[in-house]
Amino acid sequence: MSLTELEQRIFERIAHEGALSFAAYMQMALYEPGCGYYVSGTHKMGWEERDYFTSTDLSTLFALCMGRQLQHMWEQLKRPRSFVALEQGAGRGHLAQGVREWAEKESPDFYAALDYRIEDIRAGQDARDTAAHTTSHETAAPSVILSNELIDAFPVHIVEKHGERLYEIFIGVQHGRLVETLREPDNAVCEEYLDGYRVPWRSYSDGWRAEINLDALRWMERASTLLQRGFVFTIDYGDKARALYTRERREGTLVCYYNHTLNDRPLLRPGQQDITAHVNFSALIEEGRRHGLRLNAFTTQHDWLQNMGISEELERMRMRDYAASVTDRASDEGQIALLRWYALRQGVAALMDPAGMGNFKVLVMRRS
Ligand SMILES: C[S@@+](CC[C@H](N)C(=O)[O-])C[C@H]1O[C@@H](n2cnc3c(N)ncnc32)[C@H](O)[C@@H]1O
Repeated sequence: MSLTELEQRIFERIAHEGALSFAAYMQMALYEPGCGYYVSGTHKMGWEERDYFTSTDLSTLFALCMGRQLQHMWEQLKRPRSFVALEQGAGRGHLAQGVREWAEKESPDFYAALDYRIEDIRAGQDARDTAAHTTSHETAAPSVILSNELIDAFPVHIVEKHGERLYEIFIGVQHGRLVETLREPDNAVCEEYLDGYRVPWRSYSDGWRAEINLDALRWMERASTLLQRGFVFTIDYGDKARALYTRERREGTLVCYYNHTLNDRPLLRPGQQDITAHVNFSALIEEGRRHGLRLNAFTTQHDWLQNMGISEELERMRMRDYAASVTDRASDEGQIALLRWYALRQGVAALMDPAGMGNFKVLVMRRS
């Protein structure tokens, strides 16, 4: 069996350094220059023959709500003449495009102030990298740093509970294949992390696993450094620590996406599949506070969209763009309008599904 370029690099590194922490392995699988999943051409977003889709694939109303959200923030900051919104992990830039289009049409004053910038690791901009992004005098500090499904991609350590201790998953090679091994962690960081959020892991049964995303802390530190006055706004799947690290969730939350199929085998096809884990929002909130931010809102995507008026907008669009579905339902035109309206409504339902994306969490932190 021939190895890919990335597999060769992983095998060589293990041969030189010994087994890698899962986080080091995940860093290579997703970010290794030239061949990691997010930095190579294998990274696939959207519908057909892709690995996964995101909220902007479901409905343009997601960008409309984000536009309204940013406009509220601009108002709260007393309408500055220049309002820099920095979207990190922006992917294809669909959200940026949707927000700009919405603002241009619906809110010209806001549009005139809006300076919406996008970054992505694919363009070499790493959202975790503090040194590379310190604000200079030429670059205005952002008023908002926003992201959708970014932090779940950061590499995680995986710990497993045995007795009174947490052991860490390392990745080694056996008979020419990548395998997991359980090791004493290098330090007590992971135990301190869980204890810091009062997770009663010592009372859980042996074999219980959890992911620890230390890069999320670095990201929050970087974001708060960039922000002189304004907001950090992030959406992702996950929860507060006590709801995330539960006794019942014995296997942790790590999953891989390949061709719209979910699997739990991160050692398969490194570089060709996405690997993600739920986000611990308590960590983001507390780290933000440590760096001078305060909690502005923590809610679900369902409630956030509702607050941004998505249902009213849906109804407004029905009467404006699909009126024939109401007034002339029996005609061909009415039937077509009805089908289009159903498709729109379906997309919004998926965004708000409490058992799916509607349960994503929305975090807003603020520096006054
Ligand atoms: C799940 S996609 C979400 C894309 C987009 N936000 C959306 O909602 O469609 C994650 C995005 O984050 C980018 N990404 C992953 N890790 C990153 C990092 N450390 N810094 C910047 N971008 C990153 C990926 O390249 C990808 O475009």
